[in-house]
Amino acid sequence: MKAFIFDLDGVIVFTDKFHYQAWKKMADRMDIYFDETINNRLRGVSRMDSLEIILENYKGHKLGQREKDLLAAEKNDNYRKLLETMTPDDVSTDVRNTLKELRHRGYKLAIGSSSKNTKFILERVGLMDAFDAISDGTNITKSKPDPEVFLKAAEYIGESPKDCYVVEDAYSGIDAAEAGGMTSVGIGDAAGYDKTDIKIQKFSDILSLS
Ligand code: BG6
Ligand code: MG
Repeated sequence: MKAFIFDLDGVIVFTDKFHYQAWKKMADRMDIYFDETINNRLRGVSRMDSLEIILENYKGHKLGQREKDLLAAEKNDNYRKLLETMTPDDVSTDVRNTLKELRHRGYKLAIGSSSKNTKFILERVGLMDAFDAISDGTNITKSKPDPEVFLKAAEYIGESPKDCYVVEDAYSGIDAAEAGGMTSVGIGDAAGYDKTDIKIQKFSDILSLS
């Protein structure tokens, strides 16, 4: 294996709680039922697809594209305000040291995230230089479980998908890794998914793979 492709939200940083709070604020204002179980279905899913899942519980009139765009923008404004509170302290020592050690061992490292806020987050937490390439929501047309974001990441670092591990916390991301011909490593939620190739408990467990 020559490279690691990392999901961002829920793997490198714990922004899941901010996604939840930002959607919850919008949902409460719209009187839409939304809870943490529904939020789990949003992991790895693009912003607009996430909105569609939340709107399954909307009892009001049928919304047009313009209204949906405004709701997605409202959520993103809520989310960005929360992201602005992030600092380098929001990256655990375990994650930071593991990334350094993988680099030291000669692996190429990339991000493969559905988020259009990826670069903003990496800048806030001081990790822009930790990766050789970033593939994110700004360079894809289909979100996970489609493998596009990971295939682009592999292409950006010049490696074949079969030589890449994908580290993920979302079921949709594990499915995307499989569809792309990569070996999946599941942490958090994805460590309990039967399709995950390798299950780990903490981030630094990946050092025993390499
Ligand atoms: C993924 C998250 O990383 O990014 C999803 O797991 C989120 O919950 C998606 O919807 C898109 O994020 P953003 O920042 O572009 O709204
Ligand atoms: Mg994730």
